[in-house]
Amino acid sequence: MGRLRAWWPALAWALTWAVGPASAEGVGTAPAPLSPQAQAGRAVMQAAQCTRCHPVTDALAQGRGIAPADREQHCVDCHTWILGTKGDEAAKAKMRVEFPEWDRYLDNIVHFTRLPDLGTLLRRVRPAFVRGFLDRSEDLRPHLDERMIPLRLTAAQKDAVVAYLAELAAVPGAPPAAAPSPAPVSPAQIAAGQARFVALGCVTCHLTGATVLRPGLNAAYWQAMRPVAALAPDLRHVRRRIDRATLVRFVQDPQAVDPQSAMPKQAVTAADAEQLADFLLHAELAAPTPPPARDFPVLARPVTWDEVYDEVLGRICVHCHMHPDSNAGDGGAGNTGGLGFKGLGLNLETYAGVQAGLVRDGRRESVIAPPAPGQPPLLYAALARRHTEIAAGGVAPNAARLGMPLGLPPLSEAQMRLMRTWLAQGAPGPTAPAP
Ligand code: HEC
Ligand code: HEC
Ligand code: HEC
Ligand code: HEC
Repeated sequence: MGRLRAWWPALAWALTWAVGPASAEGVGTAPAPLSPQAQAGRAVMQAAQCTRCHPVTDALAQGRGIAPADREQHCVDCHTWILGTKGDEAAKAKMRVEFPEWDRYLDNIVHFTRLPDLGTLLRRVRPAFVRGFLDRSEDLRPHLDERMIPLRLTAAQKDAVVAYLAELAAVPGAPPAAAPSPAPVSPAQIAAGQARFVALGCVTCHLTGATVLRPGLNAAYWQAMRPVAALAPDLRHVRRRIDRATLVRFVQDPQAVDPQSAMPKQAVTAADAEQLADFLLHAELAAPTPPPARDFPVLARPVTWDEVYDEVLGRICVHCHMHPDSNAGDGGAGNTGGLGFKGLGLNLETYAGVQAGLVRDGRRESVIAPPAPGQPPLLYAALARRHTEIAAGGVAPNAARLGMPLGLPPLSEAQMRLMRTWLAQGAPGPTAPAP
């Protein structure tokens, strides 16, 4: 196989020359002082490579943000650059010359194409919420099926990250957030707020937990809304995330609160905003029921390496478990390390890499042989764990073992059965000699 090997270095090269390296932010402006803890938090985020996924913008242009990762490293930039040629026949024809499988990339890439800006997030979201989220990320944005990755950071490092993001988002001279409204909100007010929420069309982008406010909004509808609604959070979290005064300002003019916000400004009056706050902060909104963890029976047919590679390893896993030679020594977060992980030396791009397994605490471990009689091989255990994590509503804080694929939806039933069957059949290798 080794298809990635063919394109990866060339693609990185083409990117550097075609687009040029991403520009550094805030060059030439005098930095405003960050506290020592905030400086530590910034260093933690740089080391953990948060800007391979998130923008960390300094809205005050004081050079205190974090420059985006170079495009050949940047999950979102590279993906959107490739997807940007969709519908542009001339651009596609040009790319196909060097990358014959360009059309497959266009079909395959769906994840990591848009993520929230962390530099201004805390202008609306409470620091305490963000701190909790770094311990145990939940599914905030139901239209994004990728999730925040679990972090291998200490409590002090996470505190420092939040201190940094809070200082970065601070608006000089802004009045302190007002105390929550002491006035009780009646059921009639909540109902009026809900009616306003539906009438103003908020339901066209936002889910409110499992509570369906307008029937007929289904998966096909959300798919069509993705360009504007991908980042729209499930608003059942609002009461923990945003204080009332900020919420009332935000729904009237999102960019006045958070200049990087992806929420379009709408015709919402001050009176509307109070009603919307009554609803969003006081209604009972049921949490969606996560899918139950399931068992995936083996198939009654032989499964080949080629099939496993095409459907799972080459399609999903290689992006973080690459052969280092394919990518100038960078084998990805799960192999040579990155995104704050040391890496476990696991190369899933070649059969030899899969056979070699991983290295943990200096010891080599097989990922295809059962670690003990009756136990699943590590490769399958990691895939099953992702289903368990999603069923449990998120990754447990400080989990020693993480579910795979990291940050992505669990494998489908067909993919799980394929992996399980291939492993049960002794993980046979390629039938034809590798090119
Ligand atoms: C591989 C991509 C990736 C990397 C790297 C990454 N994140 Fe995220 N992050 C995500 C995704 C996807 C979401 C959206 C989750 C959601 O909304 O359900 C997210 C969401 C978040 C949120 C919640 C935003 C909100 O609206 O409250 C915070 C905070 C966050 N990330 C912090 C970080 C920090 C800090 C780092 C670096 C230590 C980091 N992320 C690195 C993918 C990433
Ligand atoms: C140099 C450009 C480039 C960079 C940087 C890049 N990718 Fe990709 N990515 C691709 C291409 C091209 C594909 C499609 C490959 C294929 O079809 O064989 C892809 C596909 C994927 C897929 C499978 C399709 C999907 O959307 O689920 C995942 C997962 C993925 N990338 C994750 C990442 C992550 C995580 C990062 C950052 C750590 C990253 N990529 C960085 C080019 C890139
Ligand atoms: C066209 C799609 C769209 C519509 C319509 C829309 N929103 Fe949003 N909304 C978004 C997006 C996207 C975000 C995420 C902004 C960001 O993360 O920068 C958002 C964010 C929010 C947030 C912040 C939530 C959080 O947890 O951070 C609130 C509150 C909100 N919207 C309320 C409303 C209300 C009330 C209405 C109706 C008046 C509405 N929205 C209509 C797209 C929309
Ligand atoms: C976004 C990056 C990413 C993707 C995509 C990804 N991995 Fe990983 N993987 C990692 C990281 C990082 C680790 C190391 C985690 C740690 O340090 O505990 C890892 C570890 C593993 C482990 C060792 C688990 C253990 O602790 O025993 C296995 C097995 C594994 N990955 C398999 C896969 C498979 C199979 C896929 C595709 C279905 C996949 N990974 C996709 C990043 C990724």
